[in-house]
Amino acid sequence: MLLCPGVVPSIALAIRAFTMPGDKVIIQSPVYPPFFSVISENGRTTAINELSLKDGRYAMDIAKLRKQIDQRTTMLLLCSPHNPVGRVWEKEELLEIGELCLESDIIIVSDEIHHDLSFPGFRHTPIALLSDSLAENTVTLVAPSKTFNLAGLHTSITIIENKNLRRRFHSVLSSLSLKTVNLFGIAATEASYSKGDEWVDQMIRYVVENYEYLDTFLKERIPEITAIRPDSTYLVWLDCRGLRIDPAEVQRFMVEKARIAMNDGHSFGPGGEGFQRMNIACPRARLTEALQRLESAVVHLRK
Ligand SMILES: Cc1ncc(COP(=O)(O)O)c(C=O)c1O
Repeated sequence: MLLCPGVVPSIALAIRAFTMPGDKVIIQSPVYPPFFSVISENGRTTAINELSLKDGRYAMDIAKLRKQIDQRTTMLLLCSPHNPVGRVWEKEELLEIGELCLESDIIIVSDEIHHDLSFPGFRHTPIALLSDSLAENTVTLVAPSKTFNLAGLHTSITIIENKNLRRRFHSVLSSLSLKTVNLFGIAATEASYSKGDEWVDQMIRYVVENYEYLDTFLKERIPEITAIRPDSTYLVWLDCRGLRIDPAEVQRFMVEKARIAMNDGHSFGPGGEGFQRMNIACPRARLTEALQRLESAVVHLRK
């Protein structure tokens, strides 16, 4: 385990340590927007394998991914659980993509920052725990920042079982003088992981109730918008295509008419058009106000 200054910085370090300029890094969209910029800003190319959406549930399209792999494809950047679609990947799905990476000599960087946030009935599986070969081929990134709202302390943990990969990662970390992390971050990480269980359990219960409230509200009062039921995380992926607004205009409608600001689906890459990502880790009263504003704007739109 190495302490690092954040998950996204660690993705950048892994890209520099394990790939060459011009190499292809696979990501599965719609996905957390910095995945795109961290690859391009480090001079690598993104190979996008769009997730498939069927009956309100997203899945990885492994057959399509297989066709995209070539000699220059050297890394998979996995988002597990997946932001924004909220999937907790099942063991079988992880094994399938993991085997493909092993066959094709592709290193897996698994961003598991949302790993503590599974809803009841779902259990997160770290891909590195599925087999010895996957452990040797995976760099796992975690942090207390999502679960405990500590992003401002810039502290994350990089787990690398393979000694050779760990040495190469460490050498890039060291060359950029990033070996020392925020002391407050270390204290907060220790406190969160040693004393935070009860808080996390209560927080997840609250978020699940927020989700149920949102889902019922949408079904009863704004059926043009559908929430994709998450297995994990407080980020809800809203399918707004039923509003029949030009996808490029959805964000403007939300901000200017509903007066609520969400993340625009467009920034999550292919498959994100016409969607919005809402953060429901907030007091119920705020969520209620947001939904009421949204309803008023939609009622106006219907006229
Ligand atoms: C999937 C994912 N990775 C990384 C981050 C950010 O991590 P950090 O602040 O440690 O760079 C986020 C924050 O939203 C995220 O959702």
